[in-house]
Formats: sequence, structure tokens, C-alpha cells
Amino acid sequence: MHNLDAIVAEAKALFASIADPDALEQAKARFLGKSGQITERLKGLAKLAQEEKKSAGAAINRAKALVEAALTERREAIREAELAARLAEEALDVTLPGRGEAQGGLHPVTRTLERIESLFRSIGFTVADGPEIETDFYNFTALNTPEDHPARSMHDTFYLLDEQGQVAENVLLRTHTSPIQARFMKAHVERYRHLDVLPEIRIIAPGRVYRVDSDATHSPMFHQVEGLWVGEDVSFADLKGVIADFLKCFFESDDLEVRFRPSFFPFTEPSAEIDVAFMSGTLKGRWLEIAGCGMVHPNVLTHAGIDPERYTGFAFGFGPDRLTMLRYGVNDLRLFFEGDLRFLRQFV
Ligand code: DAH
Repeated sequence: MHNLDAIVAEAKALFASIADPDALEQAKARFLGKSGQITERLKGLAKLAQEEKKSAGAAINRAKALVEAALTERREAIREAELAARLAEEALDVTLPGRGEAQGGLHPVTRTLERIESLFRSIGFTVADGPEIETDFYNFTALNTPEDHPARSMHDTFYLLDEQGQVAENVLLRTHTSPIQARFMKAHVERYRHLDVLPEIRIIAPGRVYRVDSDATHSPMFHQVEGLWVGEDVSFADLKGVIADFLKCFFESDDLEVRFRPSFFPFTEPSAEIDVAFMSGTLKGRWLEIAGCGMVHPNVLTHAGIDPERYTGFAFGFGPDRLTMLRYGVNDLRLFFEGDLRFLRQFV
């Protein structure tokens, strides 16, 4: 029965070529299944003469044992290969360096805003805010800005589009934080309507503002910090004292001078530009413009429902981006908003 050897050889070769456990079990059926080749041989024994049965049976059983052994061996081998593959896949390379926790940090302008807030809080100011998408009314009209003022022009102001894609003339990106003055005063008056005396208003309002402008000292988005103090006896002298003290604290130096240069803003009268000069260091002796300010215009108080005969106030608007540039010696404003980590990391 030489072809029993052929069957065993065929089974071994087939098993060896299989790597998948299910396929291996199917291959087994071809030899040991109900009509497998070995099984058929065993069935065939019945037809043999008595004296042949014994030796033929023994040969078939030997072949069957060989096929079974080959099968078991192959099952083992597949299992081991699978295990090895899994171990390799899940292997941990303990020699790799750790990923580490990236160190985050506050943006330099945010640091400045926080500093300004804490300095003003220490003299009794609270922090107010308002929407960046503003109406023409609060951004201009309530601030005594005439209809034909150049700041209203589309060259300077980003207007929003309506649903038809047309410029919505009364909705815009605020061009300054001053509308927060108007909003705050109005809400304050409504809130304390029942009182005989209007409680003092002392706020600062930091935030993002937008203008059609872009070069080394202008970005289409930048920051301002508005300040407002309204009460019964608030004077220009108070304004000068508050600003001078603030600047000395902010720059941690008594070695600077502050000057108020007459200027014009629609919402203040009189108005001034605030310049600062350092008496030492690299910027020594140069006057730098850092804020606008003035006594709140009677029309602005009236718009908010405050009697200008009884109450006065001062307001100011700082450019905190500019303050940050001065404090850290940065010469291009756009660096703050480009998100380049090589620049930002220096402040962490
Ligand atoms: N809103 C002005 C600007 O954007 C800055 C300013 C000037 C704010 C005078 C004030 C102020 O509150 O009193 O240029």
C-alpha cells in the first residue's frame, strides 16, 4: 500500500503550507473527516480478505497516527507563531525616552492684561466686558461720533454682511473698547434707578478690537483696555494721578515721566494723548504714545441717562499690545499674533 505514504506526505505538505488555524482544521477533514482519504481506507478494509485485513489495518492506522501527529505539530507551531507575533506587537521598548509633558504658558499679551487687571483692581476697579460684534450705535453714536466721522468709513471698520451678502451698515466688529463704557453706564443707571445717588462707576474693560490695518505696528486684530471712572467729583487731576501711578507700577519703575498732550476724541472733552518716556535704558528720553484719555463728554453721559451737571468722569483707552512690546522689547506687533512657538516660548 505504497500510496498510504503518499497520503501522509501530502497531508504533511498541506499542513505545512497553512498558517491559519481554521484552514488547518478544514485541511484535517480531507484526511480524517467522514469521507477523508484515511477514513475511506479504513472503510475499504471490510472488503478485504480476512488474512489481509490485519496488516492493511495496521498500515492504515500507522498512517493515520502520522497524519494526526503532523496535525498536532502544525497546530502547536501556528499557536506559537501567533503568540510570538502578539508579543512582538505589544512589545514595550523601555529604552525609548519618555514623551514628557509639554509646558504651556500664558501669551505675553495675556500676561499684560492680567497685570493691568490686578493693578486696577487694587485701586477699586472691577472688570467689565462687552461684545466684539457691536452695533453702530454703541461703537459710534452713543460715543458722540458724528455721522460723517472718518472712523465710520469702510476703509477703517469691518462691517458684517447680512443674509443677502450686503453690508449690514449697523453691525460691525468693534473698533475700540469704548462701547463698553456706553453699555456699562446704561446698565448701571437702570440697575440703580431706585437710588437718589448713582453709585460710582470704576471699571476697566480689556478686549480684542478690529480695524482695517496691517503693518509692523498695526494688526487687524489688536487689544485695548478701556477705563472709566464716573462719580460726583471726578476730575482731570484724578485721571493724571491714576494713570501716572499705574504706569510706574506697570513698568516697575519710578524712573519714567508721563505727559498729557492735548488731543481730540469725540467722546471726551477735554481730550489728551498720554505719552511716556523712560529716563534710563535703551528707550531713554523718547516719548512714546500709549493711550488716549479725557473727561467723559456730557453728550456721552446724557446718552447713558446720567446727568452731566451732577456727575463727571474720566475715561482712557490703553493699547496693551504696545505696553507688552515696551515691557519685553518686542519690535514687531505681528509677532504676537502669528503663533510662532519659537517666539512665544521665550515668555514661558
Ligand atoms: N477709543 C479710542 C481709540 O480707539 C481710545 C480712547 C481715547 C479711549 C480716549 C478713551 C478715551 O476712553 O477717553 O483710539
